[in-house]
Amino acid sequence: MTQSNWMPLFHKMPDLLAPTMAKDHPNLPVVKEEGCYYYGLDGKKYLDFTSGIAVANTGHRHPKVVQAIKEAADRLMHGPSGVIMYESILRLAEELMKILPEGLDCFFFANSGTEAIEGAIKLAKHVTRRPYVISFTGCFHGRSLGALSVSTSKSKYRKYLQPNGLTYQLPYANPKDCPAEEDPDVYFANKLENDVASLFAHQVTPEEVACMIVEPVLGEGGYIVPPKGWLHKMREICDRYEILLIFDEVQTGFGRTGEWFAAQTFGVTPDIMAIAKGIASGLPLSATVASKELMKQWPLGSHGTTFGGNPIACEAALATLEVFREEKLLENCREVGEYARKKLEVLKRKHPVIGDVRSIGLMIGIEIVHPHTGEPNGEGVMNILNRCLQKGVLFYLCGNQGEVIRMIPPLIVTKEQIDEGLSMLDEALTEYEAEIGVHSFASGK
Ligand SMILES: Cc1ncc(COP(=O)(O)O)c(C=O)c1O
Repeated sequence: MTQSNWMPLFHKMPDLLAPTMAKDHPNLPVVKEEGCYYYGLDGKKYLDFTSGIAVANTGHRHPKVVQAIKEAADRLMHGPSGVIMYESILRLAEELMKILPEGLDCFFFANSGTEAIEGAIKLAKHVTRRPYVISFTGCFHGRSLGALSVSTSKSKYRKYLQPNGLTYQLPYANPKDCPAEEDPDVYFANKLENDVASLFAHQVTPEEVACMIVEPVLGEGGYIVPPKGWLHKMREICDRYEILLIFDEVQTGFGRTGEWFAAQTFGVTPDIMAIAKGIASGLPLSATVASKELMKQWPLGSHGTTFGGNPIACEAALATLEVFREEKLLENCREVGEYARKKLEVLKRKHPVIGDVRSIGLMIGIEIVHPHTGEPNGEGVMNILNRCLQKGVLFYLCGNQGEVIRMIPPLIVTKEQIDEGLSMLDEALTEYEAEIGVHSFASGK
């Protein structure tokens, strides 16, 4: 198939696609992707600091992954669950077991993050025979009705849908809310203890709660890194009441926080984990993971899938794991992540519109504020992102009001590419500040 100039077709996008797809930002028309770059239909090359929303952790179209996909397609394209069995899905389960926290050793493969979450909640309810779920304000877990019932990153996602999954919400731990004189680990551990006690006293008994579900680092909700002590306390409370702890590692997984999973970064092992996004470098694949003991209580027929654990996607995932090891991507994530954080702190001192820089590994949030009030500035983010795009670097956004620039480059990114992307961001910030009449400081040093 040859690449035509499909710009006229692109202009029909608003009629062909639902606005909820067509109006998203930035819908950059591209003809090719490679490594850390997209190649636009306009002939320009764009540095990608989105990784296709935390998916292309090995870079776009890594040659080893592409080769594995081609070879797999020559053998087997579809593995209807329960009808046939194939080597790659079993081999992948064995390989994933090696990188997951101990005890997470049994898999239900699906296609998307949302499905992995659905599986996790269904499993927890089935095993405990309890109806209720506790989730945390600001978390995003997907867009199906079940996943939405525990997602509160934006109310517009839930409008008219009345997701009635029998859930209760507790506040997420945002280090910004910790009083200056307090230790955040202790403060948020005590706060969680009090929040839970109040919930159990007034609204639901612990014996009715199947699970707590949490993003170990808040993603869509604004890239907030909670104190370790909060997650450790969550583990302790779940153990106390025999409530299952679910980690949504859809975005934090596959090296994003500098370890294979945030569970390892924080030293907390959940009972159930949902993994997706980076798992197969771009092919749709996900998994609900738990111990054999838990999974064995989920009998045949209680869950299923037609496409989940697709054989080509499984081969892509196996190749992805090899690339991680061969190219030392966890090490690169930690080293380049630290480099980027330091550079961003310099930019923060230079640009009054930067309210905060939050990062863990290569999961980086740059909060944009109105400099005189400190209020979140979603409009500013759009202005800055559009300028960045014109200059040739692609960022994404997050936060309840779209006030955070989300920077999630592929884990193969180099320091030179960080320099290249951040110098374009620096220019965009300077231009935006000039437009709104705020002076950037000449140097952030
Ligand atoms: C933390 C988290 N959970 C779940 C999902 C849903 O994943 P998917 O879009 O693959 O269904 C996402 C997607 O962005 C996510 O970031």
